[in-house]
Amino acid sequence: MQNSILLDTIKGIKRERPPVWFMRQAGRVLPSYSKLREKYSFRELMLNPELAAQVTLLPVNDLGVDAAILFSDILVIPEALGMKINFTDKGPVFETPLSDARNQIPYLNSDSSKLEHIYKTIDIIRKQKTANIPLIGFCGAPFTTFCYMVQGNSANHNFSEAIKLFYNDRETALKLLEIITELSIEYAVSQAKHRIDIFQLFETHAGLLPSDLYIELILPFVKRITSAVKAKEVPVIFFPKGLGHAISRLNPDIADIVSIDWQFSIVEAWEIIDSKIGLQGNLDPRILSVDNKEIITKELEKFVPFGRNEYKWIFNTGHGLLPDNIFENVKFVVDWIKSANWYRS
Ligand code: CP3
Repeated sequence: MQNSILLDTIKGIKRERPPVWFMRQAGRVLPSYSKLREKYSFRELMLNPELAAQVTLLPVNDLGVDAAILFSDILVIPEALGMKINFTDKGPVFETPLSDARNQIPYLNSDSSKLEHIYKTIDIIRKQKTANIPLIGFCGAPFTTFCYMVQGNSANHNFSEAIKLFYNDRETALKLLEIITELSIEYAVSQAKHRIDIFQLFETHAGLLPSDLYIELILPFVKRITSAVKAKEVPVIFFPKGLGHAISRLNPDIADIVSIDWQFSIVEAWEIIDSKIGLQGNLDPRILSVDNKEIITKELEKFVPFGRNEYKWIFNTGHGLLPDNIFENVKFVVDWIKSANWYRS
């Protein structure tokens, strides 16, 4: 692929500005997505490769972002392990969470044919997309997927059942993480074979564990997935939300780029992270619900001194876009990033 500003940036090539895309860019912030949702459920959109490809490309047209991210969900892995999930207005709800994991694990049944429709979606996107817009594939990281499988929903933001299992019965917890990791490796490598351009691993709940435990016990699982993808020559972005200062303990074997949440300073992150790793982030997505472009502009201007000197940086939000973000604000941010003077002469 030629001239993708995002791929150049990941390689550390100096471009005139940072590339811009958003986590959850293909969702309810787009009027075109909400219109499709009047006709189809989220699940119908995900399962139908033609529709999923169409939704993937909506933000490229509607917002002008520099990348498309596959329209799917991290919870396809538990589904391919045989768990039933309802996507409700309040988020995903599992019919039978693994509240007694030790006795339920033997009934998990890995069926990778349930992921086939996603590879078809990738094939269609590749035919339809503009050549210099890269396609980002993704998967949930093992710990975040584990949290959902044990807890069964996201109503309790502490995922207390999942954490309890992690401390009470370490053997069962590691066994479950192993099952998730094995299927995730197969899934991620298949996405690479279908020629995604970049892979992002979402560890949304890294911050639920003490960082020493995360680094010691969870990161080896992460590394197995990202190494398998990197071996296919697909660059990797890792999003360990809430990992804080422990990002200093990540190395380039894990990821080419680390995505920084909005709780952490991007300047500080740059100072402590391995010098071979680039960064992504980290505008607070809640600012995009404020109906005042001056306030948003002030926040964007703060990134200029950073972006002026650091070329291996992708502009993004510090977590996914929110349903109540204002579409015009998101579009404003894309236009602003693209037209600002980054003083990169
Ligand atoms: O980023 C994108 O635009 C690509 C598609 C994508 C979705 N989910 C679509 C989606 C991606 C990358 C995800 C990742 C995901 N899914 C994560 C990790 C990243 C994060 O945001 O923390 C997690 C934890 C999930 C699980 C999940 N799926 C939740 C908690 C929810 C409910 C919250 C919400 O936004 O409604 C979903 C449903 C979901 N996944 C929607 C979309 C567009 C909303 C479905 C709808 O009602 O239209």
